[in-house]
Amino acid sequence: MTIAVTGAAGHLGRLTIAALQERGIPAGDIVAIVRDTAKAADLAAAGVQVRAADYADPAALREALTGVDKLFLISGSEVGQRLPQHTNIVEAAQAAGVGSIAYTSILAADTSPLALAAEHKATEQLLAESGLAHTLLRNGWYWENYESAVDTAKAAGALFGAAGTGRLAGAARKDFAEAAAAVLTTDGHNGVTYELGGDEHLTYSDIADVLSRVLGTEVTYKDLPQAEYATVLEGAGVPAPFAQVLADSDAGIAAGALDTDGHDLRRLIGRPTTKLADVLGA
Ligand SMILES: NC(=O)c1ccc[n+]([C@@H]2O[C@H](COP(=O)([O-])OP(=O)(O)OC[C@H]3O[C@@H](n4cnc5c(N)ncnc54)[C@H](OP(=O)(O)O)[C@@H]3O)[C@@H](O)[C@H]2O)c1
Repeated sequence: MTIAVTGAAGHLGRLTIAALQERGIPAGDIVAIVRDTAKAADLAAAGVQVRAADYADPAALREALTGVDKLFLISGSEVGQRLPQHTNIVEAAQAAGVGSIAYTSILAADTSPLALAAEHKATEQLLAESGLAHTLLRNGWYWENYESAVDTAKAAGALFGAAGTGRLAGAARKDFAEAAAAVLTTDGHNGVTYELGGDEHLTYSDIADVLSRVLGTEVTYKDLPQAEYATVLEGAGVPAPFAQVLADSDAGIAAGALDTDGHDLRRLIGRPTTKLADVLGA
């Protein structure tokens, strides 16, 4: 059984490869697909098969997927480019005879108001039309997304956002990685859509409270209109298009789009999900 992971040099990819090994998959049965093999030298040294392919390179993807039974398709990070990139990967998987694909989507991709969800919804459609056996891992927000708020919280005693009083059910990347490893190493997941959210349902005021506890200083949540928050992000050096995406995501959180009452994540990993305080405390 050969399992390939795309985006393998990234955070989720690395954690998933570690989780696969913890589940007993030998390093030599894991294929790490990366665009820059230098970033995966440690994986190669550990015996993982490292293969080079950019999501934009169909021929390299076909080559990289040769002999692969199961593919973990980690969505690309170049927002706006992802549908053609994912199309290349799915077509390469078809050509290489890959048996099944697990794809990292977003919570409630088919109905989500988030701008980020459009490429995920289209990729889910692509997979449905591909005829390939597949599993949708609709990941919620990583708690690690709030690590970038720590410096501002320390300096200004504030967490800025545009999420109102909306709750989100985040979890640690490691939780999502372990869920992926569970799906890749056990049977019964083809055709299944998992809505993966954490056990905690926090508002941004709750997140400010967690920051206060972790930092030992008072942090208050400052709720801003969406456009104003985008401007604050740009002022902090976030490129304008990404600032718009982040502010739009906060508006989605305000509407409850990153919350879920499902317990698929907890069930797949066989333990409670990681708390925000543990992620930020680390
Ligand atoms: N649920 C959430 O809260 C959340 C938050 C952020 C992102 N995401 C999504 O989840 C994915 C995984 O998250 P992560 O934290 O592991 O992100 P990450 O650390 O940025 O890793 C993404 C990986 O994808 C690779 N990649 C990007 N474009 C590629 C291309 N054209 N060809 C080949 N490889 C490419 C990157 O390669 P390089 O190392 O060469 O750059 C990187 O290794 C992201 O890509 C994004 O789609 C989810």
